[in-house]
Amino acid sequence: MATNYISIQDAINQASKTVSIHGWVHRERGSNKLKFVTLRDSSNLIQCVFDRAVFEKRWDEIDKLQVEASLRITGEIKKDERALTGYEIQVKDFEVIGKSENFPIAKDLSIEFLADNRHLWLRSRKMTAILKIRSTVFGAIDEFFRQNGFYEYHSPIFQAVQCEGGSDLFSVNYFDQKDVFLSQSWQLYAEPAIFSLEKIYTIAPSFRAEPSKTSRHLTEYWHAEMEVAWCEFKDIQDCGEKLLKHVVKKVLEKNKEELKILERDISKLEPIVKKPFVRMTYTEALKILKDKCKMPVEWGKDLRTIEEEKLTMLYDVPIICTNYPKKVKAFYMMEDPQNPDTVQGCDFLAPEGHGEIIGGSQREHDLEKIKNRLRAQGENPKHYEFYLDTRRYGSVPHGGFGLGVERVVKWICGLESIKDAIPFPRTMERYKP
Ligand code: 4AD
Repeated sequence: MATNYISIQDAINQASKTVSIHGWVHRERGSNKLKFVTLRDSSNLIQCVFDRAVFEKRWDEIDKLQVEASLRITGEIKKDERALTGYEIQVKDFEVIGKSENFPIAKDLSIEFLADNRHLWLRSRKMTAILKIRSTVFGAIDEFFRQNGFYEYHSPIFQAVQCEGGSDLFSVNYFDQKDVFLSQSWQLYAEPAIFSLEKIYTIAPSFRAEPSKTSRHLTEYWHAEMEVAWCEFKDIQDCGEKLLKHVVKKVLEKNKEELKILERDISKLEPIVKKPFVRMTYTEALKILKDKCKMPVEWGKDLRTIEEEKLTMLYDVPIICTNYPKKVKAFYMMEDPQNPDTVQGCDFLAPEGHGEIIGGSQREHDLEKIKNRLRAQGENPKHYEFYLDTRRYGSVPHGGFGLGVERVVKWICGLESIKDAIPFPRTMERYKP
């Protein structure tokens, strides 16, 4: 990094002296006498003015500057209310570092075109703002768990068992071995580690062969997961609530500018930090859906996207929905002793129709019950011997959850689609560029 160059934001902060900056041409316009270049770097934008009287000999070079050319500039910075970010630089010297001709992203901004040119679209103000918020979210998750005494721990990505049902598993050609899959979740390889570390977390990629083309499903997403020994079901819910409050608080503190660029109404995020989340059972949720939304759901059916959407529209904070019917949930969830048709599992549903962002549970520790539920799902418990050992040697009450990072970014940024919450989205229809 050239040391005498400062960021555009630093230049603006120390306004009214000679500064050297570098960046890319965001916009350019000009006349025969003056050329206005809006330069951008990761920190901000600034208008730079080239005067032909100063650069007569180099005017051709300046005249040919196009969008996305990279430049080094030295000049005098001053306040100018008319300029986009309130400041302007009168250029005294410059160097073109990388030319750019006919940058493809100009007029055609169709979703498909932008997806094909994702590598270039990442430079847009919108994507830059989202990527900064995404960075804050990752940092905040990490900070929260470390501050609360969790160890970072890693499960393998190549796995020999399913965790969340066989229907969306990606099989891998692993030296011609059968039954090797990409991780859906760290969980089955994380539970063994709570006997060593007690409180653990990760942020890692998870993979789901989701045939759905929805605004909330990716085939590869980043999964923040935690697992903790000696806990009760309520502790898992409390931890998820505290984590989300921490993440939203950090984004509100650090990313005001980015939220403004995304035109996000921050009054929709403020209650998340201040108010307790709404907690209800699945059965209570069905009653509310029937009475308030005129949407009757038969007991025992999982909630569909549309039902989750309607439910979340009723509150300005996430809903922690618990006690789903046992038959719609994963084999490892603890049967509720008070109501054995249901499990001590919870989904966190984000407001404004964004839907499920966290799924978690207390874990079943009765060995026979787990085996029976595996069999009921068509699985052979023999393949799970390593996992079942966690229930044989000093089993303790424990639980955990998984948070879909892109789902959280989508919600915080108020995005229409999850695809914009990740640099290169992978979906059923797209694995390129
Ligand atoms: O509810 P899920 O399937 O739970 C698990 O994987 C548990 N084993 C986690 C645990 O207890 N450690 O997934 C957890 C979260 C969902 O709430 C959602 O936010 C996200 O992962 N998720 C997806 N995000 C993007 N695209 C997909 N296809 C997703 N599937 C799940």
